[in-house]
Amino acid sequence: PADRPAEGLHVVITAGPTREPLDPVRYLSNHSSGKMGYALATAAAALGARVTLISGPVALPTPAGVERLDVESAREMHDAAQRLAGDCDLFIGCAAVADYRAEAPAEHKLKKQEGEDTLTLRLVKNPDIIAAVAARPDRPFVVGFAAETRDLAAYAHDKLARKGLDMVVANDVSRVGLGFGADDNAALLLWREGDTTGQADLPPQPKAELAEAVIRRALECLTPPAGD
Ligand code: PMT
Repeated sequence: PADRPAEGLHVVITAGPTREPLDPVRYLSNHSSGKMGYALATAAAALGARVTLISGPVALPTPAGVERLDVESAREMHDAAQRLAGDCDLFIGCAAVADYRAEAPAEHKLKKQEGEDTLTLRLVKNPDIIAAVAARPDRPFVVGFAAETRDLAAYAHDKLARKGLDMVVANDVSRVGLGFGADDNAALLLWREGDTTGQADLPPQPKAELAEAVIRRALECLTPPAGD
């Protein structure tokens, strides 16, 4: 129906940051609040979808009607995404996933070393969660985000191709009042359209509105109107 275009679809969304342990009391993370991902979950549910939210640690309530799975590290988020990816129609990676984790987290709290002014951490690469979803033979429609501080369009085109995505939501996270932690966001939307790339500019607006625009655009790609 026109007011519930996502009826019958299962949408899986990752949101928030990941936490990569250094020792039992410390971790590496980032400033993602989860607001953008939670807004996507709210919008998808309002449009009629069954929604599963794979969430890193955030301080937000679970949106009504949404099933939420809490994870901490990138590897936990990867495992949850792989469990669900074969059973969904649309996968949206909005989480700010740590690209690296500590190679060997300490079993006990790290102590300050007498006489040493530096400490070296050795990091190893985390799995690329969204690229792994997009590489599956039974892949859903895959929407990724691109968080950039310069050359937004160029990096967004690169991520669309390199990660095998169907759509990219590229946001410039250096703009004041938008992006990480903010209530508003703006984005350049890119999607595959046969051999070409469709494009739309979404100006600064509340994350709730931007989220609805992204979901509606993805639904149009997923289920093109009859006669197309
Ligand atoms: O949470 P908020 O405070 O509301 O802020 C929203 C946001 C700025 C975090 C969000 O709009 C956003 O841009 N999310 C993606 C952040 C990010 O990590 O972007 P990236 O360009 O580094 O990653 C590109 C894509 O690959 C993303 O879809 C990301 O989820 C995915 N990725 C990245 C690394 C990795 N190891 N696995 C992944 O799946």
